[in-house]
Amino acid sequence: MSTKATLELDGKSYELPVVVGSEHEKAVDISQLRNLSGCITLDDGYGNTGSCSSAVTFIDGERGILRYRGIPIEELAEKSTFIETAYLLIYGRLPGRAELRRFSDMLTQNEMIHEDMKHHFEGFPPNAHPMAILSAMINASSCFYPGLMGAVNRERFDVHAARLLSQVRTIAAFSYRKSRGLPIIYPKPTYKYTANFLHMMFSNPFEDYELKPEVARALDLIFLLHADHEQNCSTSTVRMVASSQANLFASAAAGVCALWGPLHGGANQAVIEMLTQIHKEGDDGSKFIAAAKDKNSGKRLMGFGHRVYKNYDPRARIIKAACDSTLKALRISDPLLDIAKKLEEAALKDSYFVERKLYPNVDFYSGIIMRAIGIPTEMFTVIFAIGRMPGWIANFKEIMDDPKSRIYRPRQVYIGATQNPYVPLEERK
Ligand code: CMC
Repeated sequence: MSTKATLELDGKSYELPVVVGSEHEKAVDISQLRNLSGCITLDDGYGNTGSCSSAVTFIDGERGILRYRGIPIEELAEKSTFIETAYLLIYGRLPGRAELRRFSDMLTQNEMIHEDMKHHFEGFPPNAHPMAILSAMINASSCFYPGLMGAVNRERFDVHAARLLSQVRTIAAFSYRKSRGLPIIYPKPTYKYTANFLHMMFSNPFEDYELKPEVARALDLIFLLHADHEQNCSTSTVRMVASSQANLFASAAAGVCALWGPLHGGANQAVIEMLTQIHKEGDDGSKFIAAAKDKNSGKRLMGFGHRVYKNYDPRARIIKAACDSTLKALRISDPLLDIAKKLEEAALKDSYFVERKLYPNVDFYSGIIMRAIGIPTEMFTVIFAIGRMPGWIANFKEIMDDPKSRIYRPRQVYIGATQNPYVPLEERK
């Protein structure tokens, strides 16, 4: 296979190296292109741009493959837990027994946020979206750990990573309690990660939440399935911020903001809103599908389509099965699940969706499980953020550990006005 690509430009020829990844995907290395030719590349939305080399996650969108550190998502979903998978993503391999114990203990030791941070929750208006609170509070956490500031902190990375992974769940639960005017519930050190989150969300000072194992397992699976997804919008944002040597908490807070949008993590909330609307209108889904195909309607079939997957998203397949089993175990029948299945069936037969290779993505069924286990809709994207934290931390670590890491700074093709004189106010028309 060729190791060089040749570019012809203005009668000149340039040889560019071809980089090959461990799964044989090829990339033309254009890092010297501007130096050599004065020319840059243009790729709106980065659909053809590799922003980095990474060893964390592999996706083959054509074949519907997702692997964390080489391990297929299906195997992790069946055999692992969110915390073990978090270790795998951050440290590059499955932990031994003692390593897992140590990691787990560090998460427990760091589960409480600084007591003074509690006052910050008071400053938000009653209906503030928990994603806004989450991002603000993660960023504010930097102030409470002076060791985080300044130069990249390699020696303390393990502690900061554990702090962030553990406290994102505490902050998320506190945000929810605050948004509902409920008293804050402190974490219980005897509980495991996901059970502890459910406890902080749903216990009361006078009564502990009754923890059902199938609920904890379903939520743990949702966290695990969201744990990383290579260079998506939020992870690229984390890497972008980290590349300036901003601290881990600041980088992760930026990731939360990027995740919030309805085209990214916000889609899980948008899916339930869409299904509820269809249900309310008594539509069997056909009216909505017609609207989603009409570019002037401003509607899309939320939870469908993906920049990388041109096949069924493997996470969606796992979540769909988990959705059926969890609802059955909890003896819940949700009309929204029937609508979702009908929509999927109709879309997968419709030439519009078939031609564009639009399949259900991770968000299509995840909201239905979350509803079944009692997670309120406005918390769906927060759940995604908790799940994605190991991936953000792993990508931050890659930047921190790379001696050749440079600040991310894309270029642009300028299309604005050419040089203009400054016109004094009194002379302007
Ligand atoms: N419903 C209807 N049409 C769609 C949809 C959809 N959900 N998704 C894409 N299309 C059409 C789009 O209009 C375009 O048509 P045409 O070629 O005629 O102009 C074509 O399919 C390609 O779409 P695109 O917007 O160029 O694709 P993209 O790669 O820029 O966007 C996406 C990917 C995920 C933002 C998009 O598919 C979408 O908006 N989906 C709905 C939102 C959603 O479910 N997001 C969650 C993504 S998965 C979780 C995550 O990673 O955050």
